[in-house]
Amino acid sequence: MQKIVVFTDTHMQPEVDEGKFDPDVQLQKGIAHVNEFNGDADLVIFCGDLTHNGDVASYEMLRKRLEDLDIPFKLLLGNHDIRENYKTAFSNEKLDENGFVQQVVELPDVNLILLDTLNGPPYNYPYSHQGMLCENRLSWLDQQLEISDEKPCVIFMHHPAHDTGFVAMDSIKLIDGDAFYEVVKRYSNVRHIVCGHVHRTISGSYKGISFSIFKSTVGQMPMLFDKMDFHMEVNEPSAYGIVTISSESVLVQTEDFELSDLRSI
Ligand SMILES: [Fe+2]
Ligand SMILES: [Fe+2]
Repeated sequence: MQKIVVFTDTHMQPEVDEGKFDPDVQLQKGIAHVNEFNGDADLVIFCGDLTHNGDVASYEMLRKRLEDLDIPFKLLLGNHDIRENYKTAFSNEKLDENGFVQQVVELPDVNLILLDTLNGPPYNYPYSHQGMLCENRLSWLDQQLEISDEKPCVIFMHHPAHDTGFVAMDSIKLIDGDAFYEVVKRYSNVRHIVCGHVHRTISGSYKGISFSIFKSTVGQMPMLFDKMDFHMEVNEPSAYGIVTISSESVLVQTEDFELSDLRSI
C-alpha cells in the first residue's frame, strides 16, 4: 500500500497584497503538518499552479520552502506556471523526452503518471489559462499506459479534463479532454485521476473513471456555481489530500490542516 500526499495550487509569490493569504506561510504550515502527522507518506505531489506569476523568484521561494519537507516530492505545472522559469529553478527535476514536465513514478502497487497540462509557450492569456495536452503529450501518455500493461495507474494533472460545475473554471478546463479520455479508455488500468485548478474539494467519476480535486493552500473557490468570475475567493481553511493506493483500492481523504491540531487528542 502506498500513501501519497497531494498539495495543489500553492500560488507562491514573494509580494502579497494586503488581506490576502501569504502562500509561503500557508505552505510552511501545511508541510509542518505533513511532517508531523503524515510523515509515513511515500511521496508528496504538488499538482500545479506552483507559483502565481511563473517568475523565477517564486520558484526559488518554493524550492527553499521544500527543504522543510521530510518526504520526497514531485512537481506538476498549472496555468499560472511558466515552464522555462520552472526549469531554471528546478534544473534537477525530471522531464519527458520532449521537455515537458511529465514522468512516471513506479511504486510497488501502482504507477503514478504525472502530466503537464500547461498551455504554452506561447503564453497568451486568458487563452493559456485553459489546459492542453497536445498530440506529443497524449502520445506519451498512450505509451506509458501501454508500458504499464496491467499494473494499476493513477494520473495526476492540474486541469480537470471535464466540467466540474463551476462555470468560470469549466471555461478554462483541459481543451482536449475528449482526446485525453479516448487515450485513457483504450486501457483498463487507470484507477483514478487527481487534479487541482478549481481550488475546491470535488470528487466523482467521468466516463466511468473516478477523480478527486483538492483545495488550494491559499484561497478557496466559493460555492457559487454560475458566477463567471475567476478571482472569487472564500476564506475557508486550506487542505491537502491523502491518497492511499493498494493493488485493490484507492482511498482519498482531505486534511484541513489549519483546523487540525491533533497533538491534544
Ligand atoms: Fe490555482
Ligand atoms: Fe489553475
